[in-house]
Amino acid sequence: MNKTLRAPVIAGNWKMNNTPAQTAGLIAQLKPLISSADSKIVVAVPFIDIPAALEAAKGSNIAIAAQNVHWEERGAFTGEVSAPMLKALGVPYVVVGHSERRQYFGETDVTVQKRVRAALNAGLTVILCVGEVLAERKLGITAEIVRAQTEIALAGVAAEELRRVIIAYEPVWAIGTGETATPEQANEVCAILRGLLARIYSKDAADRAVIQYGGSMNDANAAELLAQPDIDGGLIGGASLAAEKFAVIVNAAG
Ligand code: PGA
Repeated sequence: MNKTLRAPVIAGNWKMNNTPAQTAGLIAQLKPLISSADSKIVVAVPFIDIPAALEAAKGSNIAIAAQNVHWEERGAFTGEVSAPMLKALGVPYVVVGHSERRQYFGETDVTVQKRVRAALNAGLTVILCVGEVLAERKLGITAEIVRAQTEIALAGVAAEELRRVIIAYEPVWAIGTGETATPEQANEVCAILRGLLARIYSKDAADRAVIQYGGSMNDANAAELLAQPDIDGGLIGGASLAAEKFAVIVNAAG
């Protein structure tokens, strides 16, 4: 365990909320509240809000992420957006494999792997989401599920590319439910994932990897979660849509 090797990353997942103007407004509200934070701050916005978000975040410590990316560079894929397109806009981050994509849009471990590959090829940094559903937790197979999701997603990812992968452990039963994993439960799985990275790559690579927790993290519980030895930040949905609450979480990370 060596937390000093890792700068925390606090990412807001704004999901399908807000017009470009509203997104720009929320970033403007956020800026002064988090200007002294040491952690990296990311907000993931809808595709059409990206140009407005990039403009609004200029000169601040807020980076912009897309919420998904297709694996092909171009072609007949109606409704999709490619990694080179995001790169051309100047977007540095992309969320891949969010549980809502897996649950509602048929995303599989294999398509997640292809999206990770495409994003890394284009020079983006990936926030890779993994996590078990409640039935899997009840069966006692959480470790196996998240290990398999992560190992498949990282298939073909070289050690030097791992620096551009952030893993977000998000238990599906905790997302948007108000039911947070306990700090111990969250840390346990983040540590399991770090162990997996050590096995696939090296102890050093694992020590440097940023592993976030996500799932009903909010201004009241963030400090305790972020203090855990293997939790290096958060992916925050609901609570990131209110600037004051999100700022409390960002500032709790240091
Ligand atoms: P939540 O969402 O914070 O609203 O639970 C987290 C996420 O979906 O990333």
